[in-house]
Amino acid sequence: MKIAVLPGDGIGTEIVAEAVKVLQALDLKFEMESALVGGAAYDAHGHPLPDATLKLARESDAILFGAVGDWKYDKLDRPLRPEQAILGLRKNLGLFANFRPAICYAELVGASSLKPELVSGLDILIIRELTGDIYFGQPRGRRVSPDGNFPGAEEAFDTMRYTRPEIERIGHVAFQAARKRGKRVTSVDKANVLETFQLWKDVMTEVGKEYPDVALDHMYVDNAAMQLVKAPKKFDVVVTGNMFGDILSDAAAMLTGSIGMLPSASLNASNQGLYEPSHGSAPDIAGKGVANPLATILSAAMMLRFSLNQPSAADRIESAVQSVLACGLRTPDIWSEGTNKVGTREMGDAVVAAMTKKT
Ligand code: NAI
Ligand code: MG
Repeated sequence: MKIAVLPGDGIGTEIVAEAVKVLQALDLKFEMESALVGGAAYDAHGHPLPDATLKLARESDAILFGAVGDWKYDKLDRPLRPEQAILGLRKNLGLFANFRPAICYAELVGASSLKPELVSGLDILIIRELTGDIYFGQPRGRRVSPDGNFPGAEEAFDTMRYTRPEIERIGHVAFQAARKRGKRVTSVDKANVLETFQLWKDVMTEVGKEYPDVALDHMYVDNAAMQLVKAPKKFDVVVTGNMFGDILSDAAAMLTGSIGMLPSASLNASNQGLYEPSHGSAPDIAGKGVANPLATILSAAMMLRFSLNQPSAADRIESAVQSVLACGLRTPDIWSEGTNKVGTREMGDAVVAAMTKKT
């Protein structure tokens, strides 16, 4: 089993170090190889996704990714910005299915921005299509507007686009995931105004017919945003396009207390995957040793389950995280009165200790 370790920028290096420590404590035979990505790679090699990094990613069974980005790169041309590395990895490896579970741990009910009764027991799964939609559609660019409300004015444009096979394959992923959970899929669209999402809705309805044991409902994205903060436990699996999924999954993150708790997996058709926390490089707290490493540690657990076929090792990590929270250890983002504030490294050490205690 070969794991590419790509820490990236900002808190990426701090949190990935803790996840690597946890993986090493498992006593499984991994080959782990690190490479630069994002701003760190740009600084060293002039490109956010150097060929050597992409080659390592391609050759690995799974990728453990930290985060990329920093405001100091904002002036670079778009293709050289750190964030292009993650888009390039998704596109090159065909990582079209993004899993973002939002689980509210009993111990963190008080850290949620919502009332405890709304989030206690919350366990939803947002599945975001990752390689289509407006982030990749062509044409895109800037020009002087030939027509429209202000002809002759500067304008920018992006193209929203989905093909039937792209919608079908993410649909199957969602229905199959729902089969293993609450047997409900909510497909989120904007079919009332966007043709792209009318196609989305039509195809989801067709795919749904192949899964008579799973209930399907459709919801407009604006209503979905409202329902997510009004009654989030009504959802089971939510499937949506790239942009809506980006936004809704960050909103769902706050239900659980902190984005520092949320893992993610991005899979291709052969179950090769990239595993990363849902958050970014958090430049505001980078280098301070206070970032929450649990999202990355839980991403490593997803990696063991989805790409490396080691479900019991994944369980071990997840129950260690639970027991560390039960012991009252908290990084500042999830800290509350009466709990014990710890830093990134202490949190990682505690997870390792909890794991080794269990064996
Ligand atoms: P962010 O997710 O990095 O930070 C948002 C807020 O959450 C900040 O206040 C931060 O301190 C906090 N936060 C994030 N992760 C945390 C953790 N593990 N523990 C405690 N607090 C945490 O999003 P932001 O600030 O919008 O973007 C910062 C940079 O990250 C930008 O350059 C952005 O492009 C990049 N980014 C990269 C992503 C990736 O690598 N996949 C995803 C999202 C953003
Ligand atoms: Mg986002």
